[in-house]
Amino acid sequence: MFQSKIAGIGYYVPKNVYTNQDLTRFMDTSDEWIQERTGIKERRYADRIGETTTTMAVEASKIAIERANTTAEEIDFIIFATLSPDYYFPGCGVLLQREMGMKEVGALDIRNQCSGFIYALSVADQFIKTGMYKNILVVGSEKHSFALDYSTRGRSVSVIFGDGAGAVVLQPTTEADKGILSTHLHSDGADAEKLAMYYPGASGGIWLDEKPKWPEQELGGMLMTAEMLEDGTAFPVMDGQAVFKKAVVKFPEVIGEALAKNNLTTQDITLLVPHQANLRISQFIQKTLKLNDDQVFNNIQKYGNTTAASVPIALCEAWEAGKIKEGDLICLAAFGAGFTWGSALIRW
Ligand code: UT7
Repeated sequence: MFQSKIAGIGYYVPKNVYTNQDLTRFMDTSDEWIQERTGIKERRYADRIGETTTTMAVEASKIAIERANTTAEEIDFIIFATLSPDYYFPGCGVLLQREMGMKEVGALDIRNQCSGFIYALSVADQFIKTGMYKNILVVGSEKHSFALDYSTRGRSVSVIFGDGAGAVVLQPTTEADKGILSTHLHSDGADAEKLAMYYPGASGGIWLDEKPKWPEQELGGMLMTAEMLEDGTAFPVMDGQAVFKKAVVKFPEVIGEALAKNNLTTQDITLLVPHQANLRISQFIQKTLKLNDDQVFNNIQKYGNTTAASVPIALCEAWEAGKIKEGDLICLAAFGAGFTWGSALIRW
């Protein structure tokens, strides 16, 4: 049995910087409120037209592939995590395959929001371990800016999220105790509606207290109505406090699970790269686990919450900054919509 190692890593963020102050042009908010509650100072937004979840993923992937000393033609499987795909279907995996001129390899799309990259990494890890694939491209990419409510009504959600992409190439290694040591995945659908975008969807609203008004007709017509755009039903919803409360429990829990599985302790962690949900959540985790400042990496200040892209972007920035060296113990962890959460422990 092989172990999987991250052979190459890359990230891409769009050039358009929107500071907290910039957002005050669209909604009633302030730099003070956003920084105090989230730690975010600015975020990047993709070009409205011409830049997509897939095109950003292509940029991040090119870097990861080059750093892995391989080529797009050598990639033998694609796993793409996003909640903001270019199309409702097909997923971004096939668009990436096409845009990068890859062979007719399998392309799997992952819909696990903030923990999407950890889920994707875990799936890739299993395929490498069994010897099924040798060069898997794992991507997390998001273009949130296409669908957020930039009026005051949507401010508690829209100020948090940003656009960007991160990618890794996973390859087998026979070196003992190297690469991904273990991954741990969880879900609890009890609060599925607390952080969600309900439409378009086949539910017709049955899981919700308030049902949207669909047109009177025998079949169809339940995709999206003009009224839903006007009353805000079409936009993502989030019970921020419920998410926060659950996140600060589940993050430490799933990190502890990964350490226990490998007979390691928090002292052994060189660097924790948590999903960048909110700086206060990261600080809470750090305090709970009694980690020092050098053991936790945060970059939410610059990019906001980029959901499935946040872990690979942060991991890549930390690596580029020289904070990750061979032999280091790296812990990845994420929590988000679903709720779903997970962790990965990596010996670099
Ligand atoms: O990756 C997982 C994704 N999500 C998360 O991790 C989210 C976790 N939760 C959070 O980060 C926080 O709950 C938020 C940052 C979303 C909100 O912070 P909060 O401290 O929970 O604030 P709140 O929702 O309780 O709102 C407090 C006040 C409200 O006004 P009133 O009712 O006290 O008058 C809001 O209307 O702040 C108001 N508010 C804002 N004010 C200025 C909400 N959003 C904004 C805003 N600017 N952007």
